[in-house]
Amino acid sequence: MEKIQVACYGLGAVGSLIAKFLLQKEGIQIAGAIDISRDKVGKDLGEVLELNRKLGIMVSNDVENVMAKAKCNVVVHATGSYLKDVYEQIAPLAKYRADVISTCEELAYPYVSEPALARKLDALGIKYGVTFLGTGINPGFLMDTLVITLTGLCQRVDKVKVERVINAATRRVPFQKKIGAGLTLNEFKEKMASKEITGHVGLEQSISMIAAALRWEFDEITVESAEPVIAERDTENQAIKVKKGQVAGLKQTAHGIIEGKELITLNFQAYIGAEEECDSITIEGVPLIHQKISPCVHGDLATVAAVVNSIPKILKAPPGLLTMKDLPIPSAAVEDMRRYL
Ligand SMILES: NC(=O)c1ccc[n+]([C@@H]2O[C@H](COP(=O)([O-])OP(=O)(O)OC[C@H]3O[C@@H](n4cnc5c(N)ncnc54)[C@H](OP(=O)(O)O)[C@@H]3O)[C@@H](O)[C@H]2O)c1
Repeated sequence: MEKIQVACYGLGAVGSLIAKFLLQKEGIQIAGAIDISRDKVGKDLGEVLELNRKLGIMVSNDVENVMAKAKCNVVVHATGSYLKDVYEQIAPLAKYRADVISTCEELAYPYVSEPALARKLDALGIKYGVTFLGTGINPGFLMDTLVITLTGLCQRVDKVKVERVINAATRRVPFQKKIGAGLTLNEFKEKMASKEITGHVGLEQSISMIAAALRWEFDEITVESAEPVIAERDTENQAIKVKKGQVAGLKQTAHGIIEGKELITLNFQAYIGAEEECDSITIEGVPLIHQKISPCVHGDLATVAAVVNSIPKILKAPPGLLTMKDLPIPSAAVEDMRRYL
């Protein structure tokens, strides 16, 4: 069987890690590379990935040209968090008969925030026989897919509480910027108000995905504004330096409520210097389930894995827009990718 042909769309911090991982995998070939960044367009992918070797794949901003030549089976996409921003990037890929796996947070469960775009993507996928999937560590796995999987052991589910605490010091710079690390309190407030920084995106999507799996219909899903976490000391060894009194990151909580009762609570904390990193899930019900991963799973590495491990699953999936809850249970594709087809 021929190698699976993949195009990499978006070669920032996460897209580059995905491309590097793909290069190590057997049974897969990178057939095209797309980005708009001036630093990358026109350069060999090997140079963009800082590999000290050429790969013979030019990074291009001409999507149509790359897609027409690449004849790829899958596009791995990592450019933005909001579906309204990335819709025009991913929708035209359908006509090239390529499945799309994207790290776009809203795409993990787009029916809640962008129902019209979600319906359009689903229809396009069905028309052209391709599948769209949004995945990653979160949303896409830790606060939704894993929770849903654990409820498979429950006779009754009364309440779900999930907490993720990340020490952002070890994460990529775009993530540190997104959570406001290194800003003054005023800068944080201004940039959040102007949406120059977004905080975490995806709590609403995770709650909605769990609710859809359990067939819970929420009266209300509320996502509180992100609260800044102020650094208690200087932290020196990061790309972004944070001084005592500056913002180290943020905390954010979301609630899913039916008839005044809070049935799902998600609490996300990411700041430089967080001492106890963990992913913790409590399902109150029968039986009680309490699961804790400590330290928390490394978001960037796991996002890369979630995307690449989804390749064989999406290739076998029915067409349309799917979410992680619609695919077979997640598993690592550690051998030649073609063995999973
Ligand atoms: N679901 C999850 O768990 C998860 C996990 C990790 C990341 N993410 C999300 O994945 C996205 C990528 O993350 P990142 O850290 O890699 O971001 P990043 O470093 O900012 O990289 C994005 C790359 O895409 C390029 N780009 C932007 N618009 C484009 C377009 N229209 N066409 C082609 N390329 C375009 C950017 O170029 P310029 O720099 O010139 O704009 C940049 O090179 C973010 O939205 C992030 O929040 C989700």
